[in-house]
Amino acid sequence: MSVISRSERAHASVTTGRDIVAFGTRAPSIHNTQPWSWRIDGSRIDLRADRGRQLHVADPEGRHLTISCGAALHHAVVRARTLGFEAEVELLPTAGDPDHLATIQLVPGRPDPEAEAEAELLGRRRTDRRRFTAWPLPDDRLDQLVAAAVEPGTDALTIREPARRVRVGLLVSKAAWVESHDPRYAREQEHWTLPTPEGGVPETHRPAPHPRLRVSSRYDDPGSESMGRDPVQGTDGLVVITTEEDGPRDWLRSGTMLCRLWTEAMTAGLSLVPLSQLVEVPDTRAALADEIVAGAGHPQLLLRLGWQEISRNPLPPSGRRPLDDVLLP
Ligand SMILES: Cc1cc2nc3c(=O)[nH]c(=O)nc-3n(C[C@H](O)[C@H](O)[C@H](O)COP(=O)(O)O)c2cc1C
Repeated sequence: MSVISRSERAHASVTTGRDIVAFGTRAPSIHNTQPWSWRIDGSRIDLRADRGRQLHVADPEGRHLTISCGAALHHAVVRARTLGFEAEVELLPTAGDPDHLATIQLVPGRPDPEAEAEAELLGRRRTDRRRFTAWPLPDDRLDQLVAAAVEPGTDALTIREPARRVRVGLLVSKAAWVESHDPRYAREQEHWTLPTPEGGVPETHRPAPHPRLRVSSRYDDPGSESMGRDPVQGTDGLVVITTEEDGPRDWLRSGTMLCRLWTEAMTAGLSLVPLSQLVEVPDTRAALADEIVAGAGHPQLLLRLGWQEISRNPLPPSGRRPLDDVLLP
């Protein structure tokens, strides 16, 4: 039997904590802002919001910052479970400290094969904005995916009726127009999405607009002829993540829901792209809530889903801050 000293045990738990946090930082985040910081304290890991990385123009309430942190929390929990821990999560554990978003308490257990399968998917997840194939996404396929991903306190609404799909497309275009004509949004987006080894949105993740299809992406060059194209294609699956209430707890859970939908989509061979602009702009968010979600909860994020080309090369990972930059002493 090997004898492990106290200092070696402490070291092992720090290494484990670092491994879990490193996986957490692979999560998707609005404009790849990575708005989180973490503290490892023995078997406890704290997740905090980093307000210095909040989009104060596009996200003044911190909704999309918190959804991003919820996604990071989910990644960390899944990784902990692959390492043989039960991860006991408490959301918003400190009254009066809204930036303390969550605590993960690591309790020894057994490696969980389901978590391993999920971690494998999360590890190769990318926001792949390349054009989807034209194959339509059957409604029952989308419903199955949503049913498999459902998370307490959250729901996901699939938008099927042609008139409502057209309306959602118009709202996305309107939100994109509002943001691209307001220099404050444009400056903020440019600042955060500039690609660096530590963040931003790389060129490989900003596909050139398709010459025939009138489809655009949020990260197209504002001066390019892609502006004015449709942000949503006729064959896209459209899903809105909704929550019962509309506060930080619900936003954190929406982050989990986003990851679960993403891995379910990947398993089905689908690409998923979040579209957050219509939730960022107050008028289009109100229209989405009143006309589309219509009393079925608070809209948090719109998702486009579609079939990937079978022969598509995987995208490289986008940059992340070094681990030591996100760890608090
Ligand atoms: C809350 C949230 C909102 C997002 N909104 C958009 C969006 O409007 N358009 C888009 O193309 N990507 C959007 N994304 C995807 C991010 O840009 C992406 O996660 C980030 O650039 C990191 O890249 P990766 O997902 O490939 O790791 C969003 C992600 C999150 C978590």
